Amino acid sequence: MELKELKIGNLTARIPIVQGGMGIGVSLSNLAAAVANEGGIGTISGVQIGFREPDFDTNTVEANLRAIAKEIKKAREKTKGIIAMNFMAAMNNYELYVKKAVEEKIDLIVSGAGLPLALPKLVKDSATKIAPIVSSAKAAKIIIKSWLKHDRLPDAVVVEGPLAGGHLGFKMDEMLEGTYKSLKEIVTEVKEIISSYEEQYSVKIPVIAAGGIRTKSDIMELAEAGADGFQISSMFVPTVECDAHENFKQAYINAQKDDVMIIKSPVGMPARAIRTKFLTDSMENGCIVTKCFKCMPECNPLDIPYCISRGLIDAVNGSDGLVFSGANLESINKITTVKEVIDSLIN
Ligand SMILES: Cc1cc2nc3c(=O)[nH]c(=O)nc-3n(C[C@H](O)[C@H](O)[C@H](O)COP(=O)(O)O)c2cc1C
Repeated sequence: MELKELKIGNLTARIPIVQGGMGIGVSLSNLAAAVANEGGIGTISGVQIGFREPDFDTNTVEANLRAIAKEIKKAREKTKGIIAMNFMAAMNNYELYVKKAVEEKIDLIVSGAGLPLALPKLVKDSATKIAPIVSSAKAAKIIIKSWLKHDRLPDAVVVEGPLAGGHLGFKMDEMLEGTYKSLKEIVTEVKEIISSYEEQYSVKIPVIAAGGIRTKSDIMELAEAGADGFQISSMFVPTVECDAHENFKQAYINAQKDDVMIIKSPVGMPARAIRTKFLTDSMENGCIVTKCFKCMPECNPLDIPYCISRGLIDAVNGSDGLVFSGANLESINKITTVKEVIDSLIN
């Protein structure tokens, strides 16, 4: 079976690899542009993207809006390829941030962690393409039905399975007991839902599979289940081009099988992360949250074991913190380059 280019509306990626958005600050313009230059799609994470702006602590929303424009501009200076942005639908000021990225002419918005029902309205009258992230056929159906009320279909659908990194769209007990469906099964089910809409509306909606893809044979297996594209994140972390601090990359290289764990994130969802001192200490003792960035509407600083924004920012800056990762890091054991990762997956 031959892998084909990935077409999302009028955007054509020469190779069907999408680098997944990694917040906070793990995938910014440098990593995204490097992937786009290889012919794939690079994704800038829009989550708390202003964390390096001098006024981030005092003026968080403005700092984030400014950084969205800066990172898109930097990516455009480095590549003529396709650049996407990832935003979590459940975050405060989600609509404001998406609108800013659209204003800055981002090619594609990819959005999950909550149902991104507002996306059609936010990209109306623009050329920006939209793709929801789902972990079940049921979620795909709910989103498509809602988007059709705005006369819009997804331009692509990202299917994120149980082996992905960061927040997971599964129940905590499914994750702990291993009673989840495999990515391949979910891709097959989502494909089935989508094909009925493709027929009805005479369009092609590519399905992009994500979570735990490490080899070309993983890709071929998902391609046989009908996936058109393949979203990879963890393999791009220990690359020279990745925007995270060296210590973050080393955490991936040094992680043993037992170090990758399922946690209950302060936002209430299960998540996958590497065991760090920060994580162990805060799970055992909790920690006092001294500054709230008001990132999530449901989060109460008095009820949480740690501040997720602070944990992720500390880690990406090289300090002890919260290091999200996908499952199966065993094959990820050296610093490499984006080109080498892509070659190992495609050739
Ligand atoms: C460090 C890290 C941060 C992530 N942050 C986000 C995020 O902010 N938003 C999101 O939708 N997905 C996020 N993800 C999920 C990835 O984009 C992706 O779909 C998934 O991890 C792919 O699996 P893989 O890491 O095994 O390749 C993150 C993953 C990692 C590893």
